[in-house]
Amino acid sequence: PGMLALWALAGYLLGSVPFGVILSRVFGLGDLRSIGSGNIGATNVLRTGNRTAAALTLILDGGKGAAAVLIARTLAAEDAVQIAGLAAFLGHCFPVWLGFRGGKGVATFLGLLLAYAWPLGLAACATWLVVAATLRFSSLSALIAACLAPVFAALFGLGHAVLMLLALATLIFIRHRGNIERLLKGEEPKIGKK
Ligand code: G3P
Repeated sequence: PGMLALWALAGYLLGSVPFGVILSRVFGLGDLRSIGSGNIGATNVLRTGNRTAAALTLILDGGKGAAAVLIARTLAAEDAVQIAGLAAFLGHCFPVWLGFRGGKGVATFLGLLLAYAWPLGLAACATWLVVAATLRFSSLSALIAACLAPVFAALFGLGHAVLMLLALATLIFIRHRGNIERLLKGEEPKIGKK
């Protein structure tokens, strides 16, 4: 149990690095939290118009989720892997460095799934892409991918992942409350729009 707590801490610290905020500053785009939705993720970086910064945010926020899973898998037992992945997700959503006001966890979720079981990760990414390409809402794409992830896991024989995925989906819904309200009111901006 002591080791699991250490893996939770390591995952949390990795996940808590707010790449969107850092990159927006490095690229001279201003404080991301006063732009667009105010969120610290790649979708909001894209609202600055800087695609490079947005792509890097997506890759690095996804990468930290993947890194948490891969490091835990290399160095620890399987129970630490899910803990590290979940903790990285929580680190992104509630980073101590930003007064616990972090992001919505979507890139980190997709990254950790790709590292956890790549067919599951690919299915979730494909779901996000198909919904984003057709309906153009980043948030809705994430909500649908989050809902389908436990279904994919069950279909792919990854029953041991279902509980973790239900927890992640619940958290993703909670983090998207504002988006859900805007979607229902028809006020959610489409991808790339302010
Ligand atoms: O990744 C977060 C995304 O689903 C929504 O971001 O900025 O539109 O609230 P945003």
